[in-house]
Amino acid sequence: MDRIELSKARVFRGEFSPPPDKSISHRSVIFSSLAKGASTVRNFLRANDTLSTVNAFRALGIDIVDEDTTLTIHGKGLYGLSEPRDVIDCGNSGTTIRLLSGVLSGSPFFSILTGDGSLRTRPMARVISPLSLMGARIMARDNDRYPPLAIKGDNLKPIAYAMPVASAQVKSSLLLAGLYAEGDTEIVEPIKSRDHSEKMLPAFGAELSVEGLKTIVRGGRELCPLDTHVPGDFSSAAFFIVAALLIPGAEITARNVGINPTRTGLLEVLRNMGAVIEVSNIRDVSGEPVADIYCRGKAALKAVSITGKAVPALIDEFPILCVAAAMAEGTTTIKGAEELRLKESDRIKAIATELRKMGVAIEEYPDGLSIKGTDKIQGAEVESHGDHRIAMSMTVASLAAEGRTVLHGASAVDISFPGFFDIIGRLSS
Ligand code: S3P
Repeated sequence: MDRIELSKARVFRGEFSPPPDKSISHRSVIFSSLAKGASTVRNFLRANDTLSTVNAFRALGIDIVDEDTTLTIHGKGLYGLSEPRDVIDCGNSGTTIRLLSGVLSGSPFFSILTGDGSLRTRPMARVISPLSLMGARIMARDNDRYPPLAIKGDNLKPIAYAMPVASAQVKSSLLLAGLYAEGDTEIVEPIKSRDHSEKMLPAFGAELSVEGLKTIVRGGRELCPLDTHVPGDFSSAAFFIVAALLIPGAEITARNVGINPTRTGLLEVLRNMGAVIEVSNIRDVSGEPVADIYCRGKAALKAVSITGKAVPALIDEFPILCVAAAMAEGTTTIKGAEELRLKESDRIKAIATELRKMGVAIEEYPDGLSIKGTDKIQGAEVESHGDHRIAMSMTVASLAAEGRTVLHGASAVDISFPGFFDIIGRLSS
């Protein structure tokens, strides 16, 4: 299924539930493994990325009973992990390697973390530097910049740290290390990034407080087990929301979608572009806001401009936003988004390269792009660059394009959304 043929959708209609949230699935496995006692995770995302986290904790001696989308995790406490007998393979997952680095920095044994070709090009100094300030001993390839990482856990001391980039992975890594440090670890972000760790850790019994951009965690206290239910992933629903806006007559409802405001920046941007999107039935699921999202195709969208402040709340949605911009009236500009070059692929380059093949005029900047919208895009031979979000974005573009599209590297969707093409097929037939 690595090559898939797609053509223009004549209809796009119906209801679906997006897969469980990837970020929350990772965190529920990590926090449950560190708690003392049995926790359950319901509606766990069974996808390549989150299974990397499950396998990592198994390699660290945690018993995880796995019945489809329900996991029972027999956590052994902060100091209950055991030295892995082999290198831990984090696959394609930045969340696994960065959050685990925080845990292993405070765990008194030796471990090595590595990953696939893409993960081994992703920057790790952003976690290694602050963790080293806490007393961690970490070495990495190319002057301590890239995986593999070799970690010898040690006694950690708390730090006060101003993060140079807004990153929930870095913040969460430091919060986890902070659990092992005697005293208060203070972390300040430049712009608010997704706050799932801050919401979940107190529910697991951690002492943690948030004041604006500052998060303080108190170390030296064990976590207690918890049952979590993972909400649907807004970032996965986003592909269908944009598809509905681009296909004439489309109408979809996404059920049980997480709408944490640190994740849903795309909704505001699309509304500014003129989209009709309704959010209803808002409720709480395991401390996270969840809702149903209704959306329908209308007249053409209008271009927008996006700057750095807005970036973290839509960090994973830029590829699909670029597809919406490609069909909007006017020129959309995105600036202050240099982090996109450091994701599973260089997403600025990847989306520009692939949308150009469909006839879209795009200019690339070091920190963003400008996209001149057109009312007709052309089917083409496109590639996923091994990146799940590029694969799904190009699929949506193909549904709105004239003629036939061939997508190479389609299996990348399995990183976060194994049933993606089934739902696309159902809604467009
Ligand atoms: C994630 C944080 C984001 C995001 C990634 C998941 C997380 O990365 O892009 O898909 O679960 O914490 P950064 O923290 O590097 O921005």
